Amino acid sequence: MSLSPLIWVLHGPNLNQLGVREPEIYGSTTLDQINQMIADRAKSLGVNIDCFQSNHEGALIERVHQAGPASVKFIVINPAGFTHTSVALRDALASAAIPFVEVHLSNVHRREPFRHHSYFSDLAEAVICGLGPQGYSAAIEFAAQRINNRRG
Ligand code: DQA
Repeated sequence: MSLSPLIWVLHGPNLNQLGVREPEIYGSTTLDQINQMIADRAKSLGVNIDCFQSNHEGALIERVHQAGPASVKFIVINPAGFTHTSVALRDALASAAIPFVEVHLSNVHRREPFRHHSYFSDLAEAVICGLGPQGYSAAIEFAAQRINNRRG
């Protein structure tokens, strides 16, 4: 099975702290465990995947800049706190013009009002929130289907 179509998963700030960070909101699953789950799902779907986490806005922006040259077909991004603040990361995704799904572990709409606005949702193909780690699997399935539809 060819694993060429590439999906990049981008994790924003503080997500490296999953497992210890506010477990009552984000659960006890670590980022390594989520990435392993994503990798397993991607493998079963026959898509190539790469996961990247940064606490730095500029590093995430530069990663998005690299997506086009790397022939990335789809991006799954949890911008975390940058969801509610980052025009610059939004601009990078708009300029990359690669379809993406926005994922949040928690249901941001059930939380503080400042989490209700996202700088990404209107550009996203879809927004998944409140499913916990399962949201990433759903996003990968959606991305793989989109890529395969375009291939077929
Ligand atoms: C989050 C929700 C954001 O509001 C928050 O800043 C995060 C994580 C989520 O996955 O639920 O860091 O994106």
